[in-house]
Amino acid sequence: MTEIEWWDYDDADEMAAAVAGDIQFIIESAIDARGSAVIALAGGNTPLPAYKLLAEAKLDWKKVTIIPGDERIVPLGDPLSNVTALAKIFLPKGARVKPIVPEATKDYKAAGRSADALMQDLHWPLDFCLLGVGTDGHTASIFPGPDYEEAVAGPKERRALGVMPDPLPPEAPVARVTLSREAIVTARAVMIAVTGQAKRDIIEKAIKQGPLSEYPIGRVLADVELPIDIHWAA
Ligand code: 6PG
Repeated sequence: MTEIEWWDYDDADEMAAAVAGDIQFIIESAIDARGSAVIALAGGNTPLPAYKLLAEAKLDWKKVTIIPGDERIVPLGDPLSNVTALAKIFLPKGARVKPIVPEATKDYKAAGRSADALMQDLHWPLDFCLLGVGTDGHTASIFPGPDYEEAVAGPKERRALGVMPDPLPPEAPVARVTLSREAIVTARAVMIAVTGQAKRDIIEKAIKQGPLSEYPIGRVLADVELPIDIHWAA
């Protein structure tokens, strides 16, 4: 059973500072140990304050490669594009920010195969993966439902998959590409950052459900061998 530690904060700003500090330490350790760091960062809104603080860190950014842990299948520059948000923050620091969706396409399964090919040149396992969680228990873009089985139980060699969530999430009603469960759970470090009681409740329920959880986050957490920190602000 994965060792899970909750880190609770009075507010999101306090959490952002702690998350930024932890990610900085992980990046520094990866560079010390292997000369570079390849990290996957969650999309969505919760982690943005932490990313802005992290970008201020004195790091050897040219040795850091950042990919979005999942991506909406939209053109670069679209407000829904996760890599666009990450590029705005980290490209000016000299980091390599790598899109995982080559171009917007209606064929989301082809986009998933392209993403998988795009990521073959990265060193694996990832040095770090930051996950967000939705109130339906999704993480990255592994959503409950039919795609879940492929993303969660998909072929081990796949690092990315195209998914069409059903129903489409209201905040980003588009097809997506996501890191596979395998790519996530084999990372050298996995961390979660969430806010609000609803997400805390769904994660705690998912952890209790264990490896057969109805929630993707439960299945991912059950399969990660390393200790996981869950940062939470009310
Ligand atoms: C995405 C994310 C997704 C996100 C959760 C939480 O592209 O939407 O990667 O998994 O982390 O939906 O999003 P918020 O932080 O915006 O609530």
